[in-house]
Amino acid sequence: MNSGRDVHSFSEPWRVRVVHCSLELDVDFESRQLRGTALLTLERLDPAAPVVLDTRDLNIQEVTAGEPLTFALGPRDPILGARLSIDLSAGTDSVLIRYSTSPKASGLQWLEPHQTAGKEHPFLFSQSQSIHARSWMPIQDSPGVRVTYDARIKAPSELRAIMSAQRDPADENSFKMDLPIPAYLIALAVGALEYAPLGPRTGIYAEACVLPSALREFADTEKLVETVESLYGPYRWGRYELLILPPSFPFGGMENPIVTFVTPTVIAGDKSLVSLISHELAHSWSGNLVTNATWRDFWLNEGFTTYIENRIQEEVYGREQALMEQVLDRRELDREIAEFGERDQILHIDLAGRDPDEGCTRIPYIKGALLLRQMEMVFGRPAFDHFLGSYFEHFAFSSITTAEALEYIRRELLDRYPNESRAISLHEWVFEPDLPACAPRARSEALEKVADGPDHAAGWNTQQWLEYLQTLKRPVGWEQMKQLDDRFHLTRTGNYEILAEWLLMAIESGYEPADERLHEFLLSVGRMKYLRPLYAQLKKSPGGREKALVLYREAKPLYHPIAQTAIERLLFLEQEVPGEQRIDP
Ligand code: BES
Ligand code: ZN
Repeated sequence: MNSGRDVHSFSEPWRVRVVHCSLELDVDFESRQLRGTALLTLERLDPAAPVVLDTRDLNIQEVTAGEPLTFALGPRDPILGARLSIDLSAGTDSVLIRYSTSPKASGLQWLEPHQTAGKEHPFLFSQSQSIHARSWMPIQDSPGVRVTYDARIKAPSELRAIMSAQRDPADENSFKMDLPIPAYLIALAVGALEYAPLGPRTGIYAEACVLPSALREFADTEKLVETVESLYGPYRWGRYELLILPPSFPFGGMENPIVTFVTPTVIAGDKSLVSLISHELAHSWSGNLVTNATWRDFWLNEGFTTYIENRIQEEVYGREQALMEQVLDRRELDREIAEFGERDQILHIDLAGRDPDEGCTRIPYIKGALLLRQMEMVFGRPAFDHFLGSYFEHFAFSSITTAEALEYIRRELLDRYPNESRAISLHEWVFEPDLPACAPRARSEALEKVADGPDHAAGWNTQQWLEYLQTLKRPVGWEQMKQLDDRFHLTRTGNYEILAEWLLMAIESGYEPADERLHEFLLSVGRMKYLRPLYAQLKKSPGGREKALVLYREAKPLYHPIAQTAIERLLFLEQEVPGEQRIDP
């Protein structure tokens, strides 16, 4: 099997390793730049070797260690950015790099006041996963390299800075993370943010006008934390906060330690999309405590997390809720398996030569979670829960490869229950495409009831609506769309999950009364989960490619650089082939 070499980093941590990063950064909204210094503490395993860092579009002004050091910035690779190599003299154990970021930094989004909820102040947020930390700091940007960090942020005084670290009680703008984390978990946000507590160690940051609805929606957060602790052991990061971002945030959530970043599109008013918080919280164990060593091991982060997410949902919201979510997830997985080439159906995916963000499909999430579900069923819940707890204990604060995880699973689980183990082929699950025939399939009575038709729709929850819309016999005609809309006002629903599903159907069926809402949606929401299918469906519809391009041109300033890349790839590629070599538009 392939070793743990990270093909997405230039760094050579086995020669010189960065162990601490100390940032001093000025936030300049005018020029859309971060400017300042990174002081990196080094561990020199090979005394003759230079320190090699990852960068992307950084302007490196000087590198010093008391005196100027010689450095070389390599050519820009379209996926990896540029290698920064710094020569070290004997005894040098830290380097100070003075730099500024590009206004187009892939890991930062700079928002104008009108792109925020409050519309009065600008906003900045980072998104470092997978390999975007290097676009806002010179660092060994590999999940196999863990650092502690501290930072001092200078931002306009009317704004508040937030980082994935502990705030210094004596200085609002100073932060410290004294547990070792990979670079992709270093995060920063700056905006007109208010704070309100939820529980003893939980709370929410949000713009003032969003805070009340966020507090209601996520009122159970403290209970979620207690639930995971009761299942898998202590929460190790001190506080757990949520930061509600403006709607352009390209993801649903991001598990930045201490402060999860959250899209406002999950505030549905009825807690029906809270599984996203369960998911990000679960990463405090699977991902942040035990981390994938390279991006091909991503399923260790997301598969474990998706499984734990559902266990939390079951404990807090009941078995039926958890089953509904499993059934809907499985449909998404089956669709991707049908659509993708074989190499992209494999958990231990080969991402060499590709952007690791392309590995973020339903495969590592849902196929990964199904493997864990099967182990739970084969070995029994108590044994499997105990195993997971010991896995987190054993690998705490380390980054591991698929091989290391499998070795541990075999030793601590399979070898202990040789009879039961015969039911499971780890090799097939992890290294082969498609799903093993024995993959468990969840059933939900609540979702099955939906087949009775919409006469009972008054009592349907979000998941039942999704089930109904997804299983309506295709093609759905214009007349049927109109009838549904007249009866249930779906074009006007405030639930983004249902709305996205409905708008997709509207494009497919040429139902033009939804055009305006689609326009409004694409111009206000930057969450890629919704943008991707909507633009893809538009592109397929008659005359739709031109429409999509016009819409995209208008909406582009709202979208995050990562989302822009994804949508442009989709719109300008003749045919979207999942996992196709990246082509720059
Ligand atoms: N860590 C991921 C987000 C991510 C993955 C960002 C890969 C960049 C590259 C996060 O935990 C996540 O999975 N978010 C999901 C929500 C979840 C409930 C499936 C999302 O954003 O949709
Ligand atoms: Zn995740």
